[in-house]
This record gives sequence, structure tokens and C-alpha cells, in this order.
Amino acid sequence: MLREFNPTVHTGLIQLNEVDQVEIQIASWCNRSCSFCPSGTFETPKLGMDMSTVERIVSELETIGFSKTIGLHLMCEPLMHKKIMDIIALFRQRLPGVFIRMESNGDALKKIERLGELFDHGLNEILINCYDSPAQWAALNRQLLHTSFAGGPVWYWNQWRHPPAAPKSQWRMVRVRAFHGGGFTLKNWAGHVASQRPDPVELPLALPCERPTRRVHVNYLGQVLLCNMDWRFEVVAADLRTQSLTEVINAPLLVEYRQRLAQKDRNMTLCRGCDQGAPSGVQPGYPPADIWVPWRSLWLRWCRSRYRHAIRNRFGL
Ligand SMILES: C[S@@+](CC[C@H](N)C(=O)[O-])C[C@H]1O[C@@H](n2cnc3c(N)ncnc32)[C@H](O)[C@@H]1O
Ligand code: SF4
Ligand code: SF4
Repeated sequence: MLREFNPTVHTGLIQLNEVDQVEIQIASWCNRSCSFCPSGTFETPKLGMDMSTVERIVSELETIGFSKTIGLHLMCEPLMHKKIMDIIALFRQRLPGVFIRMESNGDALKKIERLGELFDHGLNEILINCYDSPAQWAALNRQLLHTSFAGGPVWYWNQWRHPPAAPKSQWRMVRVRAFHGGGFTLKNWAGHVASQRPDPVELPLALPCERPTRRVHVNYLGQVLLCNMDWRFEVVAADLRTQSLTEVINAPLLVEYRQRLAQKDRNMTLCRGCDQGAPSGVQPGYPPADIWVPWRSLWLRWCRSRYRHAIRNRFGL
């Protein structure tokens, strides 16, 4: 269900502490071209975000002591960046309290040890999407159930169906999503792909949208975009290479979009073609890793409720 907007947001102005997540397009491209995704439908150079831009973003976040979420998968395949390990390490070192996550097609993780390396460098969560087939999901599932990672244990969501008890900045968690087949109700990426819904919706939707209020979206050039739908950089609001984070979050264009979105007015570039927020149907899921999942999950719940502290200390759960 959509959360109602806080009336203070109607001014369009926000405070830094309202930003929950900074989403970064760490590379300009993806190695795949899925039918339900805009990637590959238009020309784009194959570039990784410049290290000086990464450094600049880290410094800006450091000045405000940012400790919420960093997403590295905005409109790209994050593992395409040759220096992804260094980038994760830089965020972890300079922003120790952040939760660093990414979503990936997993193609660059054929050697499963690389997954462990991501966590060793400071990644907290990765969602791997299996787009090809049930066999692809099953193979990865087997690997995850039978691999001991050199740098320490990895928490496999599909095995526990609960998050680790540790603070999020200490997680080493992988989720594996079965995204193959069809019948899902997916978004249309603000019109960048055809509607992926069984029942069409009338656009523009008369719905608010909190996305540009809660998240900051930075493309591979360091420009601040309206949201994660802006694959062609149509609504560039600011530039983090030359502006401070404080300036950027209340850039005039973002303020105007927030004001109008809070009033359910989507008749603006990108928003008018966007079906985000319309009722969602069947979504890709996280199949259980094995037949013991329900029991394991019950056991964990029981441990955590009755003997929480003792169990946590003894087993690190
Ligand atoms: C654009 S992808 C980028 C990350 C990575 N390349 C991947 O596929 O996981 C970000 C997320 O959007 C999801 N996604 C792609 N197209 C979608 C759509 N039409 N509706 C909903 N989610 C979608 C992907 O499964 C992925 O979890
Ligand atoms: S969904 Fe991910 S893997 Fe598929 S084309 Fe888009 S960015 Fe690439
Ligand atoms: S409504 Fe506008 S701001 Fe919200 S997700 Fe869609 S395009 Fe982005």
C-alpha cells in the first residue's frame, strides 16, 4: 500500500536526513538485453563511473555522516565495472555504517569465489536475478548450499527466509530470485518498455510518488536524475561533481517534481508515462533452498524469541 505523503513534503523541500538511499549507476551499461528492460534498446557508451566521481560522492556522503543505504545497480549491471571491488572497499572504509547493496544478473559470478570477495570488500547484500531457466536457479542454489567462503560465512536468504540478526552494515547476505518464465506484473520503466501488465492502466496515473523524495539517483557521469526510470537522462536536476549534496537534494527541478507528485500530478516528463505504484500482481520470487526451509525458519524464530541474546552470541545468528 502507498504511504501517504507527510504534509511538510508538499513544499518540495527535504532535509538530508530524509534520504534513505543513494542509488548509483556505477557502470553505463549491461551485458544483457532483457525484453522487459530498457537496457540495450538505445545506444550507450560502455563506461564505468570514473574513480574521481566515486571519490566525490563518497566525500559528499562523508560530510553528512551518511549511514543508510547505498545501491550500486542503478540502470546497469554493476559487476561490469572493472573496479567494483575497489569501489565497494572505498564506500566501506569511508562510510563504515552504510548498508551497501546491489542487484545483479550474476553473469560475472560464474566463479562463486567472486561472490565471497564482494562481501570481503564490504558489500552487505546482493540480489541475484536468474533470468534464464529453473536449471540456472537450481545450479546457483546448489553452489550456494555447498560452498564455504574463505572470508567468512555468507547468509543465504533462500535458506533461512529471515535476515541475519547482525546490524545491516555487517551483513553478508545473498538472495537468489527466480525471474525466468513469464506472467509477472512488471513496471513499464516510465514508458521505456511496453506495458508488462495483464490489465492496462490509464496514464498518467493520479497517484503520488515518493521516489525522488526518499532516494537520490546519480548516473555514471555524476549527474543527479529524477529517479531510476530515467534511462535516457531526460530529467537531470543537478550535478554532484560540482554541487554539494545539500544543494543537490533541493535542486529546483526536484522541488517542482516533488510538489506536483505530492498532489498526484504526474503530467510531467517521465512521470506521465510511468505506471509505478499501480496495483502489482504476480512478482518473481525467492524459491526455498531446500525442503528444510520451513523448519529451519521456525527454529530460528523460536531461538530469536526465547533465547535471543545467548543464541546470537553463541552462533552469530
Ligand atoms: C535494471 S536492473 C539492474 C540490475 C541488474 N542488471 C539486474 O538485472 O539485476 C534493477 C532491477 O530491476 C529489475 N527489473 C528489470 N526490469 C524490470 C521491470 N520491468 N519491472 C520490475 N523490475 C524490473 C531487475 O530484475 C533488477 O532487480
Ligand atoms: S534487467 Fe538487468 S540484466 Fe536485464 S537488461 Fe536490464 S539491467 Fe541488464
Ligand atoms: S512517477 Fe515519476 S518520479 Fe515516480 S517513479 Fe515514475 S517517473 Fe519516477
